[in-house]
Amino acid sequence: MNYKVVYFSKTGNSKRVAEKIGDKLSCEVTEITDNQDWKGVLGFLKGGYYAMTKKNVEIKINKKSTDADEIIVVSPLWASGVAPAIKSFLETTKLDKVHLVVTSTGSKVKEREGFKSVSDVVKKNNDEDAVIDNLIKSLV
Ligand SMILES: Cc1cc2nc3c(=O)[nH]c(=O)nc-3n(C[C@H](O)[C@H](O)[C@H](O)COP(=O)(O)O)c2cc1C
Repeated sequence: MNYKVVYFSKTGNSKRVAEKIGDKLSCEVTEITDNQDWKGVLGFLKGGYYAMTKKNVEIKINKKSTDADEIIVVSPLWASGVAPAIKSFLETTKLDKVHLVVTSTGSKVKEREGFKSVSDVVKKNNDEDAVIDNLIKSLV
């Protein structure tokens, strides 16, 4: 099976998780960015609002991406859902090809239907590497 990893990250947690997964699978890791400013308190409030109201954002995939059989998509949890850039990306992707990995401080992503798998890297559980290892084991 041929994999690739894509991620969006505001403060680096999802980037770190995406890179660990990419290392273990020896596959391409690509960042998705958007056209929004999420900085500061206003950015945080806007982020929660955009995630809650399921707004789409314009995204840029920062590498010419190759085809893969399955995609590992890593997102921060924003207001119980994926970040807007990931929501927009998922709308262009077949969900049954996607292993979703969501990083958060305390809770799990609510909408879990349709994905090949969903993994939660919850900071307070302190089990990031174990969650990643379980995902890798389920793939290979
Ligand atoms: C706008 C916004 C909303 C968030 N909402 C939640 C939430 O509902 N539950 C939670 O556990 N963490 C929440 N967080 C925390 C992030 O999910 C967590 O810090 C994540 O690992 C950040 O990933 P990143 O460093 O890749 O940006 C939120 C963070 C932001 C910026």
